[in-house]
Amino acid sequence: MNKSLRKAVIAGNWKMNKTPAETTELINSIKPLVKDADCDVVVCVPYVDLFAALDAVKGSDIKVGAENCHWANSGAFTGEISADMLKAIGVPYVIIGHSERRQYFGETDNTVHDRVRAALDAGLTIILCVGERLEERESNITMEIIGAQVKIALAGVSAEELSNIIIAYEPVWAIGTGRTATADQAEEVNGKIRELIASLYSQEDADKTVVQYGGSMNAKNAAELLSKPDVDGGLIGGASLKAPDFAAIVEAASK
Ligand code: 13P
Repeated sequence: MNKSLRKAVIAGNWKMNKTPAETTELINSIKPLVKDADCDVVVCVPYVDLFAALDAVKGSDIKVGAENCHWANSGAFTGEISADMLKAIGVPYVIIGHSERRQYFGETDNTVHDRVRAALDAGLTIILCVGERLEERESNITMEIIGAQVKIALAGVSAEELSNIIIAYEPVWAIGTGRTATADQAEEVNGKIRELIASLYSQEDADKTVVQYGGSMNAKNAAELLSKPDVDGGLIGGASLKAPDFAAIVEAASK
């Protein structure tokens, strides 16, 4: 296993936070702090903030992502946004399958699969979220749950397409709770996700796949989590809304 085959990706998931004006302000604060980053930096923002974000990142290496997309190209889906629409306005990244979508909006492994297909067809880079709930961890079925999530999401995805997918391991019990997985817990699951990718594709493909950790990652605990061989970056919620904290995580990933 060779971490140098992969570039770390630090992505902010702003969730339902920030207006367009606040988006401009936050990105303008982040920009100078991450200008020397030796990792990829992405900010995933609410749909209405995408134009402001795309404008604000100009002149920097920061990339913009959406937080979801629909599985159809267009049609009678009131209130939804397609992957093609995101592509058309110049958005390169999209989060798919976040646990909050699974928990509150009826997202299933099958709809995650369909959204992944649509996003790949549109040419987007995907941050695919997987993770177990607390009761699943306590029942010792963490890898069964994550294995199913990964396998269903990636069904029909070619090895070439896999290079446009980042996997984010986000234990549901660690999200927004301040209860981070230990670095060893993150490493264990991330390593098993990589083994699964190797079995579905090849070791070479697995070695190239970026597997992030997400769940209460912050400026203080990032360095330890990111020091692990299979933790290739982070998907950051709360701490991505504060420029100095987000920048500190980017710095930790750049070492
Ligand atoms: P927190 O960093 O706020 O725990 O959120 C993690 C997350 O859900 C990122 O997608």
